[in-house]
Amino acid sequence: EQLRRRLQAMPKAELHIHIEGSLEPELIFELAQRNGISLAYPSVEALRQAYDFTDLQSFLDIYYAGASVLLTEQDFYDMTAAYLRRAAADNVRHAEIFFDPQTHTARGVPFGTAINGIWRACQEGPISASLIMCFLRHLPEEDALATLEQALPHRDKLIGVGLDSSEVGHPPEKFARVFERARELGLHLVAHAGEEGPPAYIDSALDVLHVERIDHGVRCLDDPQLVQRLARERMALTVCPLSNIKLRVFDVMGSHNLRRLLDAGLAATVNSDDPAYFGGYVNANYLAAFEALPLDERHARQLAVNSFEAAFLDADSKRAFL
Ligand code: ADE
Ligand code: ZN
Repeated sequence: EQLRRRLQAMPKAELHIHIEGSLEPELIFELAQRNGISLAYPSVEALRQAYDFTDLQSFLDIYYAGASVLLTEQDFYDMTAAYLRRAAADNVRHAEIFFDPQTHTARGVPFGTAINGIWRACQEGPISASLIMCFLRHLPEEDALATLEQALPHRDKLIGVGLDSSEVGHPPEKFARVFERARELGLHLVAHAGEEGPPAYIDSALDVLHVERIDHGVRCLDDPQLVQRLARERMALTVCPLSNIKLRVFDVMGSHNLRRLLDAGLAATVNSDDPAYFGGYVNANYLAAFEALPLDERHARQLAVNSFEAAFLDADSKRAFL
């Protein structure tokens, strides 16, 4: 109970949250009704019951279906405002939020509708928030390049680009050109790597894409040389414990490698990934990991410090938040 309060009260940054993954079943139903969309599930309870995943793809199928209720700028605003309120309640001081524009533009929702709604909520608080646009790696690089073009009028609303969706079979090097272009634009670079995919994808995210953080990255422990490199470079890993259990990257929380990552000197952080689908926001992730693993007060402090150190903030802001 004391641990719960300490983890709860600790100021933290959240660096791995897909805003579409914060869409709670209740809000999915509300938006479906508002927009005259019929859902494949009869009730909120039936939808939540379908959240029983066997791997990343089984989750992505239902996650993209859930996002299909988002049509208007107000929908994107309402989703984002709800996340920011929940994050503030967990003492998140700063969030770097992923969104997947291609999930929306592919359905005919304009790029501007999505980003303007999300952005407006971020401007209104109650916490500091910035936006990272992710490319869907199951689609061709040409689509990602076209998406980056669409983002140009909104350049000032973005701090970076990322890479998400189905990992295996879609290595980072598939997106070398679009990341190069994003780099020229001065955007920060991150990518999901080593969630389900092999350690080699972490290497190529670093060497080919030149990313500044690795999203997930838990599979790095399969490669001791890579671990040494990540430690030497103080490369941040945005680890998402509940996600890893729900998507069966690890069988149970007791076998999660968070403690081993920290012991190896890696800059691990704790994040929620898709909190509406995986059973909790950032504090639930800290708590689940700390209850199942040999982690103490010092690890908690280290994880929180890591979260601010890895954030795309200037040094003064980091100090002010901690
Ligand atoms: N999109 C949303 N959540 C994701 C995850 N955990 N991995 C890859 N793509 C995602
Ligand atoms: Zn993710």
